[in-house]
Amino acid sequence: QTGYVTLDKGYKNTGATKSAITFLDGEEGILRYRGYSIEELAAKATFLEVAYLLIYGELPTQEQYSKFENSIRRHTIVNEDMRKIFEGFPVNAHPMGVLSSLVSAMSAFYPDSYDGKGEDKTELHILRLLAKLPTIATWSYKKSQGHPVNYPKNSLDYCSNFLHMMFALPVEDYKIDPVVAEALNVLLILHADHEQNCSTSTVRLVGSSQANLYSSISAGISALWGPLHGGANQEVIEMLEAIKADGGDVAKYVDMAKNAKTTGFRLFGFGHRVYKNFDPRAKIIKKAADDVLSKLGVNDPVLEIAKQLEELALNDPYFVQRKLYPNVDFYSGIIYRALGIPTNMFTVMFAIGRLPGWIAQWKEMRETKEPIGRPRQIYVGETLRDFVPMADRK
Ligand code: SDX
Repeated sequence: QTGYVTLDKGYKNTGATKSAITFLDGEEGILRYRGYSIEELAAKATFLEVAYLLIYGELPTQEQYSKFENSIRRHTIVNEDMRKIFEGFPVNAHPMGVLSSLVSAMSAFYPDSYDGKGEDKTELHILRLLAKLPTIATWSYKKSQGHPVNYPKNSLDYCSNFLHMMFALPVEDYKIDPVVAEALNVLLILHADHEQNCSTSTVRLVGSSQANLYSSISAGISALWGPLHGGANQEVIEMLEAIKADGGDVAKYVDMAKNAKTTGFRLFGFGHRVYKNFDPRAKIIKKAADDVLSKLGVNDPVLEIAKQLEELALNDPYFVQRKLYPNVDFYSGIIYRALGIPTNMFTVMFAIGRLPGWIAQWKEMRETKEPIGRPRQIYVGETLRDFVPMADRK
């Protein structure tokens, strides 16, 4: 090996870039987007306002916001030929696989000049992604129900339009419940960015080779799908349901997690690479779960199980020593379910929320002209050896 390589598996102690987008303090449990606290943004902003803030660096004026919102509305319709690609998927295809495929396919419908010399259409691609992701996301759900897909309604705001496309049926008027729309707004804001997490680092790495934005975002969606990352929100509900089916014996599952080496079991929704204190998003989501479920009159027994599990784990030395706290995924699924969103769509919801963050990070990487990402390694394989003709191999 030439030069000196320090091995840092999982990049636990490696800073990959400088960024001005999101600030995290894992010890203090602080999260800020462009300097604004997540608590204030979740309480006072709309998701599109936060998307604008992340991507362009400032909260929009009324005029900027109206222009942004109207520009997005002009792109919510998806090319009908993409529906033909979509129709080819089996009905039980996981919505995350469908989403990453169709976002990648957008690079065929909206090509950049492949030689990289044509006009820069990045701003248009950004609007198309923000506009079309919700439309595409709802197709999977409608297909799984055997229902016709809905076209977007541009008279609705971003969250209400998503709910309309998800739940409206041709046979009756669909009324948007403001409680549901507001809960969705808060959840999308809380997922909007999170500095250099696995999927964001993927988006940056793919984009660093000058690959187009759609391909980079599609790669981010695939990375997010993993159960250790965004896929955890689906795993949490399945874990809580298993505990409920098992008589609500949370102590048994905490013990299984403590013996992870033999059981191979982890408490999904617990632990975080950066937060060694409470994930501030989990605090907001836990409180919102109580509020939203009571306002909607939903009594979901797994909420109580989740609280018991949290209580038990937070007082257990195994978790305390390892500073394992509930993360963003621990309570989010309980709210999604109360909003009528099925479990296999939870990670899609995470992707819709994270999209502006991925876009902002990709844009910053390009604007700061970051070099192509290309880590080194420590080679531990065979030393030089001669080729052996097949006839002589044992
Ligand atoms: C997200 O990076 C981000 O910011 C991600 C995210 C974002 O917004 O983008 O915040 C979103 O992905 C949240 C995390 C969702 N994932 C889960 O809930 C899956 C369960 N959590 C773990 O797999 C784990 O905590 C990770 C993946 C989140 C973090 O893994 P690390 O930092 O590599 O920690 P580790 O696996 O080295 O664990 C350290 C120790 C180990 O024990 P020892 O080997 O030291 O004895 O803690 C244990 C682990 O076994 N441990 C757990 C545990 N998480 C870690 N034990 C039981 N249950 C868990 N959940």
